[in-house]
Amino acid sequence: MSNYIVETKDLIKSFKNFKAVNGIDLKVKEGTIYGFLGPNGAGKSTTIRMLLGLIKATSGEVMVFGKNIKGKREEILRDIGALVETPSYYEHLTSYENLEITRVVLKLNKTEIDRVLALVGLSEVRNKKVKEFSLGMKQRLGIAQALMGNPKLIIIFGFKF
Ligand SMILES: Nc1ncnc2c1ncn2[C@@H]1O[C@H](COP(=O)(O)OP(=O)(O)OP(=O)(O)O)[C@@H](O)[C@H]1O
Ligand SMILES: [Mg+2]
Repeated sequence: MSNYIVETKDLIKSFKNFKAVNGIDLKVKEGTIYGFLGPNGAGKSTTIRMLLGLIKATSGEVMVFGKNIKGKREEILRDIGALVETPSYYEHLTSYENLEITRVVLKLNKTEIDRVLALVGLSEVRNKKVKEFSLGMKQRLGIAQALMGNPKLIIIFGFKF
């Protein structure tokens, strides 16, 4: 077993004959904050999509929590909270109701919604519709959603301040 929470080995993704990701060896240690940077078109989003099992690698391996994403995707995703690029919400629902959907999907206790709303400072506006939210409030809501269920790994990515 490796002591990395995320590890990729010679990860490659080709689109037709174009290599978007060319042999990445990522190593992210448990308990750390990892900045994944690179110029536009470098392959960051493509890599993150492979980490989350949203697209298949052309070759190479993705290990999360020491388990291979191939075959263990559901088990791994249960312990990942992700906020990738522009999250979408049900605009006509409140922040509380949006989180309620996530809560039901993840089979969590109702108190979890109160916990994450308080953590991101949205308790006061829990009953406000998301369409009436400012950009910063929406971003906080995205973080709250990613924190639900106290995941072992949080991926906050492509997030513009
Ligand atoms: N579905 C696709 N089909 C073909 N080429 C793709 C596809 N997705 C991405 N690419 C190409 O792969 C390369 C990497 O794209 P990617 O979106 O991973 O970059 P990025 O590092 O996230 O860039 P940015 O900082 O602009 O978000 C780019 O050249 C892009 O045009
Ligand atoms: Mg990108």
